[in-house]
Formats: sequence, structure tokens, C-alpha cells
Amino acid sequence: MPQQLKRLVLVFALIVIGFLTARHFLVPPTFGTLGHYRAASIDSVANLPIHYAGARACNECHDDVVAEKAASRHATVACEVCHGAAAKHAEDPDSGVPPAPRDRSKCPLCHGYNPSRPTGFPQIDPQTHNPGKACFTCHKPHQPVTPNVPEQCSACHGQVARTKGISAHAPLACIRCHETPDEHKVNPRLVLAGKPSGRELCGQCHGKDAEQPPETTKAIPRISLGSHGNGQLCWQCHYPHNPEAK
Ligand code: HEC
Ligand code: HEC
Ligand code: HEC
Ligand code: HEC
Ligand code: HEC
Ligand code: HEC
Ligand code: HEC
Ligand code: HEC
Repeated sequence: MPQQLKRLVLVFALIVIGFLTARHFLVPPTFGTLGHYRAASIDSVANLPIHYAGARACNECHDDVVAEKAASRHATVACEVCHGAAAKHAEDPDSGVPPAPRDRSKCPLCHGYNPSRPTGFPQIDPQTHNPGKACFTCHKPHQPVTPNVPEQCSACHGQVARTKGISAHAPLACIRCHETPDEHKVNPRLVLAGKPSGRELCGQCHGKDAEQPPETTKAIPRISLGSHGNGQLCWQCHYPHNPEAK
């Protein structure tokens, strides 16, 4: 056997011995009993101290706060999200009370402006939104309401409003196409705004024989409502908030 092959065999032998030794000393005893992991980890995880009491643990002692929150827009935000882990307190209230998030840092975790949040989710810029004052002085944390109901759709639909504002449809009010109950501005997810359902809506202004709408004195581009676009819904081809004829 050539020299270099002998050395290679030696190196391989050392690796195999090293591996077997390491396996013998380092693999925990219960590894493999239940599959490719350490079976005893189930017990060690189950034995960790419990920090969170859970969503219902506060009910028996704080029923007033629980009831107030359940009827509010924070209904889905659990107590311990704001007050922190409180299992110790729920078991023995004398051991100390959980801290209340009275500074301005907690609320922006959910309400600080972030474009990836769903449309209409109440968001603010913590830098410019009433700086220097704690959030709870104006918004009750267990019953948050905006002190004033916004008048404009743009307060919550800024992106749609900005898009429409520089489009051919700028002179059209939102409610010209969306029938919107007043309650939508207070409880937007529960009471939705209407959406147009058919081609007739657009035909009111763009149909061949449609009357001139009061919003504009300019000539309106007309189409034949019967045949244009193969009878498909208009907004499959034209974005209604920024219609383009391309
Ligand atoms: C066994 C009864 C009991 C349970 C269960 C309980 N609490 Fe309390 N909690 C108390 C008592 C008593 C106080 C003290 C009231 C006081 O000092 O005015 C208190 C006070 C508090 C305070 C007041 C802190 C402050 O700054 O004033 C908070 C916050 C609080 N609890 C949150 C919770 C949360 C969250 C839960 C559920 C995970 C919970 N509690 C479960 C009895 C309970
Ligand atoms: C959105 C965050 C938030 C959630 C969710 C929340 N709290 Fe609070 N909580 C606060 C803040 C902030 C304060 C301090 C308010 C103040 O000082 O006026 C507070 C105060 C309290 C207090 C003491 C004073 C009071 O107003 O009665 C108790 C008790 C309390 N919370 C219990 C609860 C319980 C129980 C829940 C769940 C049902 C809960 N909180 C959910 C933010 C929250
Ligand atoms: C874990 C996330 C979370 C945290 C933390 C949180 N909120 Fe909220 N907040 C929500 C959700 C969810 C809604 C309901 C949104 C909806 O219905 O579209 C809401 C709604 C609101 C509204 C209602 C806005 C409106 O137009 O009526 C206000 C105001 C508000 N929160 C203030 C606060 C304040 C003040 C704090 C801190 C004490 C806080 N929130 C902490 C999730 C959170
Ligand atoms: C001085 C009182 C005041 C303080 C302090 C304050 N707000 Fe507001 N907040 C308002 C008013 C008034 C409105 C409604 C008008 C508006 O949108 O500006 C509002 C609106 C909101 C909205 C709803 C925005 C929307 O688009 O529906 C949220 C969420 C909110 N505030 C969260 C917070 C948070 C979080 C803090 C703390 C970082 C805070 N507020 C501090 C007065 C306040
Ligand atoms: C207080 C905030 C707020 C105001 C003011 C508001 N909206 Fe909304 N709007 C929402 C929220 C939140 C949704 C739900 C968004 C979602 O599900 O992604 C919504 C949804 C909608 C939808 C979609 C409905 C659907 O079925 O998907 C339309 C259309 C709409 N709003 C139109 C309007 C119009 C028009 C106005 C003004 C007259 C208005 N909104 C004012 C918050 C608001
Ligand atoms: C020319 C008619 C028209 C006008 C004006 C209009 N919309 Fe719409 N909007 C529509 C149509 C059509 C849809 C799509 C409906 C569908 O997909 O079922 C829509 C969808 C929406 C949606 C849900 C989906 C999305 O695209 O975000 C929201 C929210 C909305 N409009 C808000 C507004 C607001 C706010 C205004 C005013 C700033 C406005 N709309 C003005 C016709 C209009
Ligand atoms: C209240 C009347 C009215 C309604 C309803 C209406 N539009 Fe328009 N539309 C206009 C006006 C005004 C213009 C701009 C005309 C101009 O300035 O040249 C316009 C322009 C257009 C254009 C041409 C844009 C361009 O770049 O030339 C298209 C496409 C269009 N609308 C599609 C629609 C669709 C789709 C709907 C239904 C979702 C609709 N419109 C509903 C009034 C209306
Ligand atoms: C299948 C896609 C499609 C559908 C559906 C559709 N359109 Fe169009 N639309 C177009 C195209 C492409 C153009 C530009 C070329 C042309 O004029 O035919 C256009 C042009 C227009 C114009 C401008 C015409 C001009 O003379 O400048 C208007 C206004 C218009 N459409 C309105 C509508 C309305 C209202 C509906 C629903 C009743 C609708 N469209 C449905 C594809 C469509």
C-alpha cells in the first residue's frame, strides 16, 4: 500500500473512533426511545415554572375590567399582553400586583404605523401623535375609543384616498360608489361599508346615454354598456380608484 493511502486510512480510523467515543459520551440516555429526540425533554419542559395565567384566570377577581374590555375593541387583546405574565399574582394577589403599562412604549407595538398591517387598522405615528402625554390619559386601555369619530374616509383609508386624489376620479366622493352606514366609522369591522355590485354603477356616468354628472363639467369618456369589455365587471380591468383607459 502506498504511503499516502496508509495515512488516509489512519485519518479515517481516527475520525470513526472519535465519532463513536463522542456518541457514547454525548448522546443523552433517553435519546431514541420515542423517536429522533430526547424523550426526557417532555418532562423537563413540563416542569418549567408557569409564568402566564391564561386568558380566563383574571375573570374571578376582575370581572368589572373583564366585562368592560369584552365589550370594547380590545376584546381580543388578552390581559397579559399588556400587564405581562401574571400567574403568580393570579394565584396569590398578595404576592404583588402586575405592572400596568402607563408609559407610551407598549401601545405602539400594535398601533405604531407599519404599512404591512391590514387596511384600516388604527395606527398612529408615536413621534407626532400627541407627544409627551401617556396614551391612557386620552384612551381608556380597557375600552379604547378615539375621542372623536373621524369625519373623512381618508382618516382610515389614507392609501385609497391618496390614490384616488390624483386620478381621473378625484372629483368623485367615496360615498358616490360605496353606500356607507355611519356606524362603519365607529365599528368598521362589524359594520362594513357597501361595495358596488354591478356594471350599472359605472354606467351611470360612462354609459352612451348617461346624463352629465354634477361632479364635473368636462366631457366624460363614454362606452357602450352592452358590449364594452365583454360584459365583465368593470373593475376587473379598471382600478376604480385610479381608472386608466389602456
Ligand atoms: C384571586 C384574585 C385575583 C386574580 C385571579 C387576579 N387578580 Fe389582579 N388583583 C387582585 C387584587 C386583590 C388586586 C389589588 C387591588 C388593589 O390593590 O386595589 C389586584 C390588582 C391588579 C392590578 C392592579 C395594578 C395597579 O397598578 O393598580 C392589575 C393590573 C391586575 N390585578 C391584573 C390582573 C391580571 C392581568 C390577572 C389575570 C392574569 C389578575 N389580575 C388576576 C386580585 C386578583
Ligand atoms: C391594551 C392594554 C391593556 C389590556 C389588554 C388590559 N389592560 Fe389593564 N390596564 C392597562 C393600563 C394602561 C392601565 C393603567 C390605567 C390607568 O392608570 O388609568 C391598566 C389598569 C388596570 C388595573 C388597575 C386600575 C383599573 O383601571 O382598574 C387593573 C385591575 C387591570 N388593568 C386589569 C386588567 C385585566 C383583568 C385585563 C384583562 C381583562 C386588562 N387589565 C387588560 C392596560 C391594559
Ligand atoms: C396586542 C396588540 C394591541 C396592543 C398592545 C394595544 N392595542 Fe389598541 N387595538 C388593538 C386591536 C386589535 C384593536 C381593534 C382594531 C380593529 O377593530 O380594527 C385596537 C383598537 C384600539 C383603538 C380604537 C381605535 C378606534 O378607531 O376606535 C384605540 C384608540 C386603541 N386601540 C388604543 C390603544 C392603547 C392606548 C393601547 C395601550 C394602552 C393599545 N391600544 C394597545 C390591538 C392592540
Ligand atoms: C392628548 C390626547 C391623546 C393622547 C395622549 C393620545 N391620543 Fe390617540 N387619539 C387622540 C385623538 C383626539 C384621536 C382621534 C383623532 C386623530 O386621529 O388624531 C386619537 C386617535 C388614536 C388612534 C386611532 C387612529 C385611527 O386611525 O383610527 C389610535 C390607535 C391612537 N389614538 C393611539 C394612541 C396611542 C398608542 C397613544 C400613545 C402613544 C395615544 N393615542 C395618545 C388623542 C390622544
Ligand atoms: C374608523 C376608521 C374607518 C373609517 C372612518 C372608514 N373606514 Fe372603511 N374600513 C375600515 C376598516 C377597519 C375596514 C376593514 C378593512 C379590512 O377588513 O381589511 C374597512 C373596510 C371598508 C371597505 C371594504 C369593505 C369590504 O367588504 O371589504 C370599504 C369599501 C370602505 N371601508 C369604505 C369606506 C368609506 C367609503 C368610508 C367613508 C364614508 C370609510 N370606509 C370610513 C375603517 C374605516
Ligand atoms: C368610481 C367608484 C368608486 C369610488 C369613487 C371609490 N370607490 Fe372604493 N371601490 C370601488 C370598487 C368598484 C371597488 C371594488 C369592489 C370589489 O372588489 O368588489 C372598491 C373597493 C374599495 C375598497 C376595498 C378594496 C381596496 O381596493 O382597497 C375600499 C377600502 C374602498 N374601495 C374605499 C374607498 C374610499 C375610501 C374611497 C374614497 C377615497 C373610494 N373607495 C372611492 C369603487 C369606488
Ligand atoms: C359620478 C360619475 C362617475 C362614475 C359613477 C364613474 N366614473 Fe369613471 N370617470 C368619471 C369622470 C368625471 C372621469 C374623468 C373624465 C376626464 O376628466 O377626462 C372618469 C374617467 C374614467 C376613465 C378614463 C380614465 C382616463 O385615464 O381616461 C375610466 C376608465 C373610468 N372612469 C372608469 C370607471 C369605472 C370602471 C367606474 C365604475 C367603478 C366609473 N368610472 C364610475 C366619472 C365617473
Ligand atoms: C375586459 C377588460 C375591460 C372591461 C371589463 C371594461 N373595460 Fe373599459 N376599457 C378597457 C380597455 C382595454 C380600454 C381602452 C381601449 C378602448 O377604448 O377600448 C377601455 C376603455 C374605457 C374607457 C375610456 C373610453 C374612451 O373613449 O376613452 C372607459 C370610460 C371605460 N373603459 C369604462 C369602462 C366601464 C364603465 C366598464 C364596465 C361597464 C368597463 N370599462 C369594462 C377594458 C375593459
